[in-house]
Amino acid sequence: MGEATVPCHPRILALAGSPRRHGNTEILLDEAMATAPATATDKIVLADLEIRGCRACDACRHGPCPLGDDMQALYPKLETAEVLLVASPVFFLGLSSQLKAVIDRCQLFWNKKQQAPAAAPARPLRRGAFIAVGATRGDRLFLGCRQTMRIWFDTLDVEYREELLVRGVDARGAIRRHADILQQARELGQTVIRSR
Ligand SMILES: Cc1cc2nc3c(=O)[nH]c(=O)nc-3n(C[C@H](O)[C@H](O)[C@H](O)COP(=O)(O)O)c2cc1C
Repeated sequence: MGEATVPCHPRILALAGSPRRHGNTEILLDEAMATAPATATDKIVLADLEIRGCRACDACRHGPCPLGDDMQALYPKLETAEVLLVASPVFFLGLSSQLKAVIDRCQLFWNKKQQAPAAAPARPLRRGAFIAVGATRGDRLFLGCRQTMRIWFDTLDVEYREELLVRGVDARGAIRRHADILQQARELGQTVIRSR
């Protein structure tokens, strides 16, 4: 009695960051979402949206972002998702430009966070996972992507809970030949969606 009701399924926002439809990262993202009910999941293919680069106009220090594009509809989804699943290919040791544009436009949240009292986070902590695929195998392949993802999640008050970083997969859909990695993606999704 008196306890807060815990919803059965958290609201999940899944961002497919690759410009290549049904490519390796999107396949893994779909696996990660596979056990979640469709009604609780909002999958967005960023390449389908018009999202301009941040213009560093500083308007978001004092108000909303003035750029009138698809980011305006994405802002509330980023704010209200309880689980954030993000997938990107490695492009020149960084994230895809489609995803990076979204991240840069989150300067709005960075500014809000700077202005909020430190002891009182603007939103309850949410949780997230990052999936990335690169064609090569170097030790440092994911360093840049991971750093950017971590600071972005931190800006959104999303805890960086899980990651699946896959080396050596290049051709479109080649990830389908790696049943073990598909299974890891499925487990990643289950873990981050079920955990609190
Ligand atoms: C513009 C571009 C840049 C890339 N840069 C890298 C890179 O720096 N390191 C790497 O290992 N793979 C790189 N790749 C390969 C992709 O990361 C790889 O093909 C990946 O599987 C693509 O995932 P997707 O099918 O989800 O798009 C690059 C591919 C493209 C098109």
